[in-house]
Amino acid sequence: MTGASRPLVAGNWKMNGARAGAVALASALVDRAAAEGGLSCDVLVCPPAHQLFPVLDVIAGSPIALGGQDCHARPDGAHTGDIGAEMLGDAGCAYVIVGHSERRTGHGETDSVVREKAAAARRAGLVPIVCVGETEAQRDAGRALRTVEDQLVNSVPDGAGASNAVVAYEPVWAIGTGRTPAPGEIHEMHGAMRRLLAARFGPDAATLRLLYGGSVNPGNAAEIASIENVDGALVGGASLKAETFWPIVRAFHDDSSPT
Ligand code: PGA
Repeated sequence: MTGASRPLVAGNWKMNGARAGAVALASALVDRAAAEGGLSCDVLVCPPAHQLFPVLDVIAGSPIALGGQDCHARPDGAHTGDIGAEMLGDAGCAYVIVGHSERRTGHGETDSVVREKAAAARRAGLVPIVCVGETEAQRDAGRALRTVEDQLVNSVPDGAGASNAVVAYEPVWAIGTGRTPAPGEIHEMHGAMRRLLAARFGPDAATLRLLYGGSVNPGNAAEIASIENVDGALVGGASLKAETFWPIVRAFHDDSSPT
């Protein structure tokens, strides 16, 4: 259940697929969006960098938005293999994921690096989706809340607000495992994140979108969507097929539609 005006359901395609499949998936999503005749949530896809332009061609003029999966903090320069936030903007992106646990773990990204990337996204006019989340060991040690609060304090740049930032809570142990926290645990974490952001950023934080991510699927999406302070989802595996991604979009659409 969202405090934000429009939930956001984002598909993180990670390092999957080739151009033809990406185009087919994007077309299927455009068709489904058209069939809804209006959506009360925002929908985003974040393909690998080489698929951005072909996907943009397909989604142009549709309600589906485009995002990057990561950006460098610098706009350009000698950074082999990286992509700047301005470049993502040039490729049609409106959002970029920063600080995903696969970047934090696989590329050694610290909170301060994530914060610089989030600030770079804003400099480029993109909305950063700042990811936070505890490991299983941290949860088992009773340090889940503390870990996430520390990451939020240190990864979310100053001046963040509902219009220029999104936060995604993704417990590391729930990503790609089929396991999710209990609804009460998500409720507790999202409430704590909301309070912390409100203390730092004031009333605007009440509508800053807080996504849940980690093994969201068509079977659990409606229950997750109904949790207070869950304003959308960041979806990995289930975003790779329209048949599994669209029911998740619909769960958030239904949750935020007037009844
Ligand atoms: P998953 O991934 O939905 O496959 O668990 C989520 C993510 O990593 O963003």
